[in-house]
Amino acid sequence: MKVDGRHFRSIWLEPDGWSVGAIDQRRLPHEFVVARWTSADDAGEAIRSMLVRGAPLIGATAAYGVALAMRADSSDAALAQAYKMLIATRPTAINLKWALEEMQRTLRPLAPSARIEAAYQRAASIAEEDVAINHEIGRHGLALIEAIAATKKPGEPVNILTHCNAGWLATVDWGTATAPIYQAQDRSLAVHVWVDETRPRNQGASLTAWELGHHGVPHTVIPDNTGGHLMQHRMVDLAIVGTDRVAANGDVCNKIGTYLKALAAHDNGVPFYVALPSPTIDFSIDDGARIPIEQRAASEVTHLTGRTADGRIETVRVVPEGSPIANYGFDVTPARLVTGLITERGVLKPERAALASAFPERTSQ
Ligand code: MRU
Repeated sequence: MKVDGRHFRSIWLEPDGWSVGAIDQRRLPHEFVVARWTSADDAGEAIRSMLVRGAPLIGATAAYGVALAMRADSSDAALAQAYKMLIATRPTAINLKWALEEMQRTLRPLAPSARIEAAYQRAASIAEEDVAINHEIGRHGLALIEAIAATKKPGEPVNILTHCNAGWLATVDWGTATAPIYQAQDRSLAVHVWVDETRPRNQGASLTAWELGHHGVPHTVIPDNTGGHLMQHRMVDLAIVGTDRVAANGDVCNKIGTYLKALAAHDNGVPFYVALPSPTIDFSIDDGARIPIEQRAASEVTHLTGRTADGRIETVRVVPEGSPIANYGFDVTPARLVTGLITERGVLKPERAALASAFPERTSQ
């Protein structure tokens, strides 16, 4: 998608043909800085430190991390070590495990001498597949937006609420929740996005608002607690969020606070959709209760970082010294609160049978 009118992806192979570039998301929205990784450790640290984040992008980063590992040492031991190091970087987004297993499946049968080229090829195809999948999610989600637009007065925007950043920055391109929004915008369909700020790391305020702004999508940033009020006053036509892992029964794990939005949507009859690429489905887990929930540093809650009026980036404390902190990164929305799952193969009921029949090849992996 566009940054200052220029097309960017969130991750790319550098012109040298082997090192990997990515947008440093920790610096947005104040600074646009590009990182360059030359080792698997660089890629691992980028995931751990949230230089990159978002389930599909974490998967693509891990795939390129394996390619960088193979370039340094393509032995069986190095392949196993790359898996071990990268799988430990973050616990909740299942795309990480999916991408690492794809890389293992591709590389393990090959002779070490053939692994470097194959690793770069599979990493590149994982990235390309993500772009194609998200484009299809956009196409199916667009039909939902068009159906609502048809019920509105001409020119009146469809109001969409989203949580966290499930935009192109969280994927390789297009985004998951934002793909239908960008496709609506490209067709000059009037949309307006309510962007949850998404404390504590503010991925909505810093990243979703930034990318929607660069693409010219009308949007309004709201404190996380505002969504229920807006829904009560019919100011939200539908919610579309992303996800980090969907269990086999359709329970959805996503950024903390998603569950509360789904409850408010249910109470107010607002359709609540979840956009997901198939690598985000975890058929090995029966229901959402078994999804590991990342607990993150207290400093994300106690401190806020922003730009001062004179342009400096500063971090300030907002919680009294000594107050204990809980910082759960994700929550689980039960399938019964989800109107539909927008996948690359269509909008599915959040049910085991629907997921299994749409993605039979994934159930046997
Ligand atoms: O902790 P993050 O920023 O990696 O979490 C990402 C999310 O939870 C996003 O909301 C997103 O929906 C999932 S990835 C498309």
